[in-house]
Amino acid sequence: MVDVIVWRGDELDLLDQRLLPERVSYATYRDSRDVARAIADMVVRGAPAIGIAAAYGLVLGARQAARSVKGDDSFRASLREMSDLLKAARPTAVNLAWAVDRVLSRGMAALSQGGIEEALAAMEQEAAAIEREDIEGNMAIGRHGAALILPGSAVLTHCNAGALATGGFGTALGVVRQAWKEGKIRMVYADETRPFLQGARLTAWELMQDGIPVTLIVDSAAGYLMSRGNVDAVIVGADRIARNGDVANKIGTYSLACLAATHAIPFYVAAPFSTVDLATPSGDRIPIEERNEDEVRTVMGKGIAPKDVKVWNPAFDVTPAKLVTAIITEKGVITPPFEENLVKRA
Ligand code: MRU
Repeated sequence: MVDVIVWRGDELDLLDQRLLPERVSYATYRDSRDVARAIADMVVRGAPAIGIAAAYGLVLGARQAARSVKGDDSFRASLREMSDLLKAARPTAVNLAWAVDRVLSRGMAALSQGGIEEALAAMEQEAAAIEREDIEGNMAIGRHGAALILPGSAVLTHCNAGALATGGFGTALGVVRQAWKEGKIRMVYADETRPFLQGARLTAWELMQDGIPVTLIVDSAAGYLMSRGNVDAVIVGADRIARNGDVANKIGTYSLACLAATHAIPFYVAAPFSTVDLATPSGDRIPIEERNEDEVRTVMGKGIAPKDVKVWNPAFDVTPAKLVTAIITEKGVITPPFEENLVKRA
């Protein structure tokens, strides 16, 4: 797979996912504010990937601050300000705040014990550790999840929870990759995932790069596909999992979970523990991002609806825990009762 996030020591290269699959092209960042904008504009997307990008974004911001501020206190204030800016770029994926806070607290601790130079070095190390751990975690998710897949399975996935959405290997697509290696996958059905088309543009492309059989469907074909007995499991990623096991993920995930329940198909959520937010008791407390109306009025920049039609564009929805068969994490497969079992594994 292509690299999604490339840290070059003094700058950050991000694969511009808005241009896929037509073009593999990178944008270079040296300013933390530009990284925050790139996250909001979906140059980089997917919960773990935006966390990693923001972690490096904060390192860039810390270097900028070290050059311009005087004294530890103003350095501290700048770090806090940049952290808040990065965390505000997208509200739903908890991995973003989790990664930024991890780099921030490592930097603050090193600042108190040493000084600004120590803080800069420690923050860079922490961002690299977050990236490394994410890849390792995804491979473990793949191994745990593949054990749930029966030989000869056709699986349905939504959005892109693959290498493109993470440090590498993917979560839902990590399970698919591992199950494919084990010879268990007959077909992957990818929802196109309106309005941003992560399924059509990214998942279809990513799986084809690896030679994994994929069939693209429009989102509204999922129910009919299930009714024909063509789906053995649904596997999706997550942006935030509440303490009770409710799952926020790309808009359309809840509809798939309802359809899966109707057709008695297992519904799996694959996510690292950094996506689990034990401080949020249930899904109704998860902030759901609403994006620009033009994303719905257009497809790839071309108008498909009256220019001034009213639009509602929530980027995510919440699937109640009762519709989730299991949550596949790097620490193992979590089954109901989710609250008890998530807390036990945390
Ligand atoms: O809006 P996006 O493309 O960032 O949404 C991504 C998803 O909903 C993914 O399923 C989720 O972040 C998990 S990625 C491993």
